[in-house]
Amino acid sequence: MLPASSPLRPLVPIAPVLSAASFRRAAAQPVRSVLDAGAVRLVTSGRVAIALALRELGVGPGDKVLVPAWHSPSMVPPVLWRGATPVFYRVGPDGGADLADIAAKLEGARVLMATHYFGFHQDLDALRALCDAHGLKLLEDCAHAFIGEYRGRPLGSYGDYAIASSMKFFPVYEGGVLVSARAPLDGVALQSAGPGFETKAFLNSLERGFAYGRLPAVRAALWLPLKLKDLAWGLLKARRPAGTAAPALAPDSSDSSFDFDPHWIDKRSSLFARSVLRLASPGRIAALRRAHYLRLDEALRGLPGLRPLFAALPDGVCPWVYPLVAAEPDALAARLAAAGVPVTRFGRPLWQGVDAATCSNAAQLSYSVLALPCHQELHAQELDWLIATVRKVASA
Ligand SMILES: Cc1ncc(COP(=O)(O)O)c(C=O)c1O
Repeated sequence: MLPASSPLRPLVPIAPVLSAASFRRAAAQPVRSVLDAGAVRLVTSGRVAIALALRELGVGPGDKVLVPAWHSPSMVPPVLWRGATPVFYRVGPDGGADLADIAAKLEGARVLMATHYFGFHQDLDALRALCDAHGLKLLEDCAHAFIGEYRGRPLGSYGDYAIASSMKFFPVYEGGVLVSARAPLDGVALQSAGPGFETKAFLNSLERGFAYGRLPAVRAALWLPLKLKDLAWGLLKARRPAGTAAPALAPDSSDSSFDFDPHWIDKRSSLFARSVLRLASPGRIAALRRAHYLRLDEALRGLPGLRPLFAALPDGVCPWVYPLVAAEPDALAARLAAAGVPVTRFGRPLWQGVDAATCSNAAQLSYSVLALPCHQELHAQELDWLIATVRKVASA
């Protein structure tokens, strides 16, 4: 259950939620996204897109896939699903791929996965050159970088394949993107996941918006139908024989799980999510996220025991979140959570067995980075509250 909101303690959504503003056009510069990077397939999660990319590349048993030591645990099961072995390579103190360590781990490697952490691009020229020199395929992980450009080209267009995660950037309940600037993706045929999934994807996006006070008129109009839906669902569940679970209408990936369920591999993203991706303006999303990021940076820089992970926000970057490095992250995260501040700790935990001996920087980043929302659906008063609360908690 979500805590109740009040004027003193608003509910700040951790990810974009649907509102009347979600489809506004921007006066801002047009910005490109992974959808402009090549052939596109819209699936139900980023991890499914990773699995499809590996399948398209013919990765199988005996192959190695180079995975950054600082990662989301959801990036690894697709590699295991192909029967391949993940080999973790080191990253620098701010997540930059360690080219020397990659070079040392090339034997048997077929694919290099490179993550643009928090929307900040890797050194794509160097990674592309390294892959070309060694016959390695580059899989650009744009899970944090749905929108963004590097040297005049959209992120996602440098890799042989790229993936993205829609929920981090759009007010949708599910979604992932497989992109290739080099292959037509003709072999990736997707099917509908059925009416139950379509309905759930739509209603959950609406209800998440309602939970944060968005779309009040729609909420009032749909109050009775949604109550009846909850009632019918409750009755259906109660009538199931004990011990039998209801079939999952949507993938676990939509509910903060790191699991990978191959059932979703060839399923198309919902009509609702596909429509949102086409209708929402990347220019507006990027302009607002950059403005919120800079506001947070200005207000929170210099607080005791906290520093921004990145020194600046380069042109072309559309941030996923605002990452800070904390001196005492566990204690601070607990105090922020108690105050109602939504905090993301990316790469915590890491995949089992990955620790400081694998990469001390990854272990340190996984432990010390706390990230705050900067998405386009934050209201001005929510951002004010977020800043005031973080300042108060961090200075206490
Ligand atoms: C860096 C990175 N790559 C891939 C993924 C997988 O994306 P999804 O959750 O859409 O499956 C995530 C998820 O958080 C991620 O953070």
